[in-house]
Parts: sequence; C-alpha cells; structure tokens
Amino acid sequence: MRGALSQPKCDGDSLKQNSFKAIGIQGLGVCLPDRILSNADLEKMVDTTDEWIYTRTGIRERRILSPGQAPSEIAEVAARRAMADAGVGPEDIDGVLFCTYTPDYMMPTSACLMQGRLGIPSCMAFDMNAACTGFVYGLQAAYALIRSGMARRVLVIACDCASRLMDYTDRSTCILFGDGSGAAIVGEVPEGRGILGNFAGCDGKGGTLICQPIGGSAHPLTAENFANKDRYIQMNGREVFKFAVRIVQDAMDKALEDAGMQASEIDLLVMHQANIRIIHAAMERYGFGHDRVVIDIEKHGNTSSASIPVALETARQEGRLKPGTTCAFVAFGAGLTYAASIVRW
Ligand code: ACO
Repeated sequence: MRGALSQPKCDGDSLKQNSFKAIGIQGLGVCLPDRILSNADLEKMVDTTDEWIYTRTGIRERRILSPGQAPSEIAEVAARRAMADAGVGPEDIDGVLFCTYTPDYMMPTSACLMQGRLGIPSCMAFDMNAACTGFVYGLQAAYALIRSGMARRVLVIACDCASRLMDYTDRSTCILFGDGSGAAIVGEVPEGRGILGNFAGCDGKGGTLICQPIGGSAHPLTAENFANKDRYIQMNGREVFKFAVRIVQDAMDKALEDAGMQASEIDLLVMHQANIRIIHAAMERYGFGHDRVVIDIEKHGNTSSASIPVALETARQEGRLKPGTTCAFVAFGAGLTYAASIVRW
C-alpha cells in the first residue's frame, strides 16, 4: 500500500507498525437500489405466498437493480457517502477493498473501478470474495493492513447484487435475496473505541451448500449449458440454516474472547440479515431483547456482503448507534465463511 500521509514510503519503513492506539470505522455510507421487489411481486412469479415468506424468513420486500444498472453504481454512492461521513477526501485514502461475489466484471476488479472513479491516488486495490461474510472479512483485513503499517486509511466497500445470479423460478432461494451496498472508512479512531476483538474462519468442506456451479473457469458458460439452472445460485437452505445457527454463536464467542469481553457487555448485536429465525436463535442463546438487536430484514432481505453495513445504518437512523455503543458484528455465508468483530462506535 502507499506509505501515505506522514509515513515514509518505499524504503522498508512502510512495514513498520503504525502508532495508532485504536482502529475503527470513521465513516459509514449505504446505498440501495430504488426498485422494490415485494412478496406480492414474487407471488406472481413463483408458487409462494407473502404469509409463507414472512413467517419463514421475516422478509416483506427487497431492493433489486434495474435492468442496465451496474452494482458499481450503488457501490460508488455508498463509498462517497462514507467519505463524506468521515470528512475525508480521496487523497486521504491509501487502500481500497471491495467485498463482493457479484462484481461488475471478472476483470478489472471493482476495487480498481472505484479507485479510478473516486480519484483515489494510486494504492493497493483488490476485490475479496467471502460472500455474505464479506464486510466483516473486509473490515478485519483493513484492520490488519493498518495495524501492520501498510496503510493508514482504507475504504472498505461491500456490495452484492444477487438478483443478477438468481433463478426467479426457484422459490426456495429467490425469496431471500436483495441487492445493496455499504461502505466504511477504516482508520484511526479515539482511544477506547474501534475494533476491540476479531474472529474469522471458514469450512471449505461445506462449499457446495451455496454455490454457482456454472459460470466460473471450471465450467464456463457455453451455448450448450446456457439453459442449465446451475448457472444461478444453488442453495441447500436447510443445511445452511443449521450451520448458521451453530456458527453465529461460535464466531461471536471467539470474538468476545479476543476482546476479553462478555456477551453482557454488548449493547447492539448487528448480525447478517439472512433469516429472522437465525437472528431469533442468537437472541435466545444470549438472552438479548429487541432493544439490543438490529433487525431490518423485513425491508431489505438478505443483501449478502452489504447486510451488516446496511443494518448499521438502520441502527444509526433509529438513533441506536451512538459514540461508545459496543456492537457485535456477526456474519456467515457461502464458502462456507464466518466471522465476528466487536466494535465500539
Ligand atoms: N414458498 C412456499 N413454500 C416453499 C417456499 C416458498 N418460497 N420455499 C420452500 N417451500 C416449501 C418447500 O418446498 C418445502 O415443502 P415440502 O415440505 O413439501 O418439501 C417446505 O416449504 C419446507 O422447506 P424448507 O426448505 O424446509 O423450508 P425452511 O423452513 O428451511 O426455509 C429457507 C427455507 C428460508 C431457505 C431457510 O432454509 C433458510 O433461510 N436457510 C438459510 C439461508 C441462508 O442463511 N443463506 C445465507 C447465506 S447466503 C450467501 O452467503 C450467498
């Protein structure tokens, strides 16, 4: 990364640990597409009902891209909002991390697109695919880059538009996902605030539970397989559900241990919004009431990597995210990936 600001560069000093006492989120921004896909709309597309979707998932509607709109369009708005929120300009950023499994292109990366469009000076810019765990993985990677001294302020963007990989004849999957983007400026924050504990893991043996079998380099899309449903996201919902309920607790407990904290010290649980029943299971496990949990799945569905920043913005707009609020971010997704961070706002 660019040895930016006051740090000397290109002389080995860029690998020296910086002296920041605390690293956290300086600014947050979110952008959702305008177009709404409601349960009533889905009733006309597949054999389902609003009642089934709402009681089994907690979702009433989700936002999806319009035809011709690219994921990077909403990502750029989220990034600009995060920069404005942090009060920083492009010249203050020396790393760009774009978390997505639905990039505009396989090449170039969305991170490079953002660096160019936002006018950020030359720096390390890369995409990261941790599916729905993307934002928490990205936050932790930014933390590590900053802690190591390789960067001082990193733009982390999480943007996914699953509607572009969705089989809208598969009622068990298409009802869950919405599109969205969120961004955070990660850098130095006042002592006592910021990222207090982290944990990240994966279980690659569960990789087939959520996957897009056709369309990558192992099985490229061809004229022959174009009609094959395997070019869309395939999910074993029941198995992912069981995995999620188990792993949320595992990840959160390990991040709390890393922070040297107890669950009782968490003010706000900000979980991946995949299914209301997975959130309820965590609330029951930790004895948290609705006052300590963010739930916005009803209006957004599962926005994949954007889910946690979108939920954070919901909490902020509800007046529940104040300086000093201690949050637990917990996410899981395809891979299978999972991660948690304890963050004091
Ligand atoms: N409308 C009506 N009926 C439906 C629908 C629907 N939309 N979808 C499934 N059904 C039916 C099934 O066919 C089944 O019928 P059957 O009993 O006659 O066979 C019945 O409902 C029950 O199906 P289940 O799959 O057992 O339903 P479940 O309660 O598990 O809910 C769901 C399915 C919502 C997918 C759930 O399993 C789930 O949320 N799983 C977790 C998904 C997740 O968290 N993904 C996150 C990661 S994604 C990422 O990283 C990209």
